[in-house]
Amino acid sequence: MIAIGSDHGGYELKEHVKKHLEEKGIEVKDFGVFSEESVDYPDCARPVCEAVLNGEAERGILFCGTGIGISMAANKFNGIRAALCGDVFSAKMAKEHNNANVICLGGRVTGRELAFMIVDTFFDAEFQGGRHQTRIDKIHAIEKEA
Ligand code: RB5
Repeated sequence: MIAIGSDHGGYELKEHVKKHLEEKGIEVKDFGVFSEESVDYPDCARPVCEAVLNGEAERGILFCGTGIGISMAANKFNGIRAALCGDVFSAKMAKEHNNANVICLGGRVTGRELAFMIVDTFFDAEFQGGRHQTRIDKIHAIEKEA
């Protein structure tokens, strides 16, 4: 299952990406929001990140207006590696090199068709391990310093 969520700024793109994934036969759990009423993006990041961390979801997709705020919030959760992606190459690298478990998009930045390509690329890519795992281990070592 893929967990998705957004604030009001990412709501519209979330709806399009949800439909795109469902049409491909991918199971999606939508943690909201369900309207364009103003909300605070850290509150929207939480349920998606928790679903990824507790194993309910394989990966998460988060949206806000730019993708910036919600990626900042997601990366505060211990064990989340959230990548803000506005292009296909970054989406591929986010999985191959960074083993991102959450991808973030900007609903006011990235067009619908590009968003579909970014998400598809992220799902098709595979983590390469090796030296990249060493680097990820160092990221999570920083979390333990706090
Ligand atoms: C909401 O207006 C906007 O600030 C939010 O969606 C996001 O872009 C923050 O990074």
